[in-house]
Formats: sequence, structure tokens, C-alpha cells
Amino acid sequence: MKYHVVTYGCQMNLHESEKIAGILKEEGYLEEAPLEDADIIVFNTCCIRENAENHAFGNIGALKQLKRQKKGLIIAVGGCMVQEEGKAKLLKEKFPFIDILFGTHNLPELKTLVQKKKAQKKAVISIIEERKETEDGITPVRTSYPNAWVNITYGCNNFCSYCIVPYVRGRERSRRAEDVLREVQALVEEGYKEITLLGQNVDSYRGENGTNFAQLLDMIASLEGNFRLRFMTSHPKDFSEELVAVMKKHKKICKHLHLPVQAGNNRILKLMNRRYTREKYLEDLAILRREIPDCEVTTDLIVAFPTETEEEFQETLSLVEAADFSSAFTFIYSPRTGTKAAAMEGRISEAVAKDRITRLISLVNAKTREKSAKYVGKRVEILCEDYDEKKGMYLGRDEYGRMGYFKSEKDRIGEFVTLNITQANGISLYGEEV
Ligand code: 5AD
Ligand code: SF4
Repeated sequence: MKYHVVTYGCQMNLHESEKIAGILKEEGYLEEAPLEDADIIVFNTCCIRENAENHAFGNIGALKQLKRQKKGLIIAVGGCMVQEEGKAKLLKEKFPFIDILFGTHNLPELKTLVQKKKAQKKAVISIIEERKETEDGITPVRTSYPNAWVNITYGCNNFCSYCIVPYVRGRERSRRAEDVLREVQALVEEGYKEITLLGQNVDSYRGENGTNFAQLLDMIASLEGNFRLRFMTSHPKDFSEELVAVMKKHKKICKHLHLPVQAGNNRILKLMNRRYTREKYLEDLAILRREIPDCEVTTDLIVAFPTETEEEFQETLSLVEAADFSSAFTFIYSPRTGTKAAAMEGRISEAVAKDRITRLISLVNAKTREKSAKYVGKRVEILCEDYDEKKGMYLGRDEYGRMGYFKSEKDRIGEFVTLNITQANGISLYGEEV
């Protein structure tokens, strides 16, 4: 029997889909297959913005025909959208052919849910409010060698006013440092070369005996072996010199900080409930760069938050200049039912929002290109992670997350390769092996 998993959203979801695949394997779905050939199809959904939901709705709806033709096909839908208030009901009404609906806290039960569905005609629905345990005992089918994702925290307590994550992922929970260390150690021994620690807010990590994030990072980076260490996502309100000191101390930790700022105006930051100011953010970046001059910073930005004026938006533009980001993910504000911001007055029209994001993207792209161009003639070490058939080139990322391409006669996936950069194209670098 074969399986197919469709993933929407962030790295947390990508990693959870690896766990879903692990569960399906245990249940006898031994091979991954294209959608049409699978005996079970699982959608792992996202609800962070409306368009993520629309994609899932469209793709689930498109399965009606296949479900009718193929006897015994099981369709399961899980993840953030299912956990959202009222969405499971809506999904069931719109798509009665769904066999299993499971929430974000129900992943460890998926095996039981599949068994249950096989024994009954009726759909199986399981959505619980809260899960306290942090160990799930699932062996993921890892799909991103030489990179491996490792959860350190689950959930979020920050309640940024625009964000639905705290509602669908629940209260923050940290794994025990001992469990995290054991997992990373095993991955390094298996040959993984890059470990990415995952959490909605990694800085809030609190392990047994009060271990904080900087201490956890220090312990992981002190493990033996040839590997790189990344982490995401950090929250500016928790920025600490202790973290900077640990980043500076270990060569294994990538000199890259993803630090979502969201907006450049203090009134908007306050309405977003972000709990820092533009000035504080810039001061922290100055500390970071004083200690680690070649550290690069990337960010997330939202435009057209309710009541945002043109002048306030321009402060986001000027912050992009001042902060000297290497790149940024940019989003139009999307109201999420149940969040504070969704109830605010002063929605910005679609036309204005589109105009703002277009201007922001062109500024961000110009900055990224400018930074990339500086790499020509320099040496960059990348971790080779894939082969691009179209380009006929191997590719990998440098410690800042920039993509580098090169030609090689033999397979280099999983190796650290030093390139002499000959050309920069947008965010990508091209080079020859040294
Ligand atoms: N609308 C637009 N962007 C959002 N993000 C989170 N919630 C929303 C929303 N309602 C963005 C933030 C966050 C990233 C993961 O998604 O920038 O950092
Ligand atoms: Fe959402 Fe804010 Fe939590 Fe990030 S820190 S998941 S933006 S509530």
C-alpha cells in the first residue's frame, strides 16, 4: 500500500508531515507515491493566512472524482486548519468524502484513527484542545537529507494580535534538553550535516532545571561531529546577549538570525502586540553585528495591518534600509477569525495593500541583489543538498541560507563544498569548486 502527503505552511508542518509519513509506514503504507496512485492521501494544512486555506480547500475539493473512482481510498485532513474553530465542521459539510479529520494535537493518534476508519464506514473525527506531552515516539521519514529538523518547543503564548498560531497550536511546551540532545546526537551519527531547531518561538525554550535557549544551543553546538546548527523562529522581544555570545562561541552555529520584525512603526508594533520598538530592534541588531560582524539577518514583514497609514508603511521601508536585511518574507495582512486584529476597525483596501507590498518587495529584492553581488570573487562554503536537473548543477546553501550552484561530475549531496563565486543572479550564487 502506498501513501501521499500534501503539506502546506511552515517548516514545523513540513517536519510534521515527515512524522505523518512515519506513522503511515508503521501502518503498512510502505511506499510514497504520486497522488493518483496512493491508497491513503493526507493533507497537512495551514491557516496562517487566507490564501493558505484557499489552496487546501481547492486541492481537497479536486479529489472528489478520484475518491469516487477508487474504492478503498482513504482521505485524511489534519493540521492547523482542522484545529481552527468551526473549520472541521465546514470541511465535513463541503467535502463529505473526507474519511479522517484530525487536529494539531492528534498526530500521535493518527495510526489508531486510520485503523478505526478501516473498521467503520463513518468518518473519523478527532480534535482535542490541548496536549501536554512533548514526546510522541514517532520515527519520522526524513525527506530533507542532509538537513534534519528537530522540534524544541511546541505552541506559542505570545498572542500577536494578527496571529492565529496560539489558537491552533496551543500553549507553549518545551521538550526536555536531554531528549533534544539525544535526537540531535543520533542524527549526527546517522550522517545528517545540518540540524535546524524548530519552535514557534525558540527563545522561550525552558527545559528541565530551567535550561534556557542559549544554554540549550550551547550544549547542542558542543556535541562532537561535523555539522551545522540553525534555529527558528526567534522573537525580537527575547533577544539576549547571552544568545549572541553562544552564537559567537561556536563555529557550528550558522551566522544567520531570522528575526521577524513585522513592521517599522511603533504604533503599529504596539497594535500588533509585539512588545518591542523599532529603536530597540535596531539597537539589538547593532549589538549582534558588533559581536559577530558578518552575521546576516533576515525577517518577516506584514503590510496593511488595520489602520496603517502611508507614513507608517514608509517606516517599514526605512527600517528595511536601516536594518540591512539580507532578505525578507513579505505578507499582506490577512484577517484571521478569532484574533484581536480581526475585530479592529480600519481595514486597508486591497488596492492599497497590493501597492504597498509591491513597493516593499521591490526594495527587499534590490537589497538582496545588492548583497549577493558582493559575493562575486569570494569563497563560500555550501552544504550540497540537491541536484537541479534543469540547470544540470548541484546546489546547496551557505551558512546564511543563500543558494549556491556548481557543476560536478560526481554526486556531492551531503558534502561541504567550497565555491569560488563567479556570478550572482538575484538571490542565487554560481561558482566553481575550489
Ligand atoms: N496576516 C499576514 N501575515 C501573517 N503572519 C502571521 N499571521 C499573519 C496574518 N494574519 C506572518 C508573520 C509571521 C509569518 C510566519 O507569517 O510575518 O512572522
Ligand atoms: Fe504568531 Fe506571534 Fe506566536 Fe509568531 S510569536 S507564532 S507571530 S503569535
